Amino acid sequence: MLYLIGLGLGDPSDITVKGLEMVRSCEHVYLESYTSIMTSTSLSDMESFFQKKLIIADRDLVEQGADQILEHAKTGNAAFLVIGDPFGATTHTDLVLRARELSIPTQIVHNASILNAVGATGLQLYSFGETVSIPFWTDTWKPDSFFDKICQNKARGLHTLCLLDIKVKEPNLDAMMRGKVVFEPPRFMTVAQAVNQLLQIINAQTTDDCPVTNGDVCLGVARVGSPTQHIVACPIDQMVNQDLGPPLHSLVIPGKLHPLESDYIAEFIPRNTVENKTEAVVL
Ligand SMILES: C[S@@+](CC[C@H](N)C(=O)[O-])C[C@H]1O[C@@H](n2cnc3c(N)ncnc32)[C@H](O)[C@@H]1O
Repeated sequence: MLYLIGLGLGDPSDITVKGLEMVRSCEHVYLESYTSIMTSTSLSDMESFFQKKLIIADRDLVEQGADQILEHAKTGNAAFLVIGDPFGATTHTDLVLRARELSIPTQIVHNASILNAVGATGLQLYSFGETVSIPFWTDTWKPDSFFDKICQNKARGLHTLCLLDIKVKEPNLDAMMRGKVVFEPPRFMTVAQAVNQLLQIINAQTTDDCPVTNGDVCLGVARVGSPTQHIVACPIDQMVNQDLGPPLHSLVIPGKLHPLESDYIAEFIPRNTVENKTEAVVL
């Protein structure tokens, strides 16, 4: 049996009772470690909580070495733990499909995901459009197709959840050229970095009818679901100066705000924000 078990967003105790019983019944327990991180818990704390040794499943192991996970699930019980919900990332349906091909039974245990916990902003989940991902730009690679989707959502009055890039276990290119394998330290895009890229796109617009402008209010959300959750609402051109602390971060670009949503968001406006500017946009 292959169990895909969501851990939720806060700490290991957010696992469901059903999920915990499954973990404890498994000989092999993998922890998916490249689409998300548990912001407030170390690996050893997780191992003590689950009373299991955890096998770190990075992208290589899941995408190229999935045979090992499936072999364990064929001959016994194996668990694949995913921070958030197992289907909160686009990649894990593939593992289920491969298990199905080998006639390995699977069971999924759902949990909170950033895709629904973003409701902590007070924005109605029903009013979100397509979710986008914002990648880290390089000197030579600056993709901006996510902006079109934000504009399409906004034009329809819909909010956009922007998931921010995570780079873990990226090879260092200089070392690679010298035939060595050295990994860069993990990087997690901050709200300020995302907004910096967004502002460059907005400022490069040549038409006046772009539905997203520098003065529009956006929300930065950090470590949602953890005890240090932090949410800030301010105009896009002020968000670039906000420090929301350690990862993980996401950005929300609201569409048309319902009065209840405006009331809720008001709580997240920093005291130092120029009041009339923010209120003019939010309310
Ligand atoms: C692939 S997605 C989500 C994966 C996870 N399985 C889930 O269901 O939440 C990863 C991105 O979601 C966002 N994210 C995940 N957890 C978050 C949290 N607790 N607070 C803020 N953003 C979060 C970050 O932008 C992160 O880069």
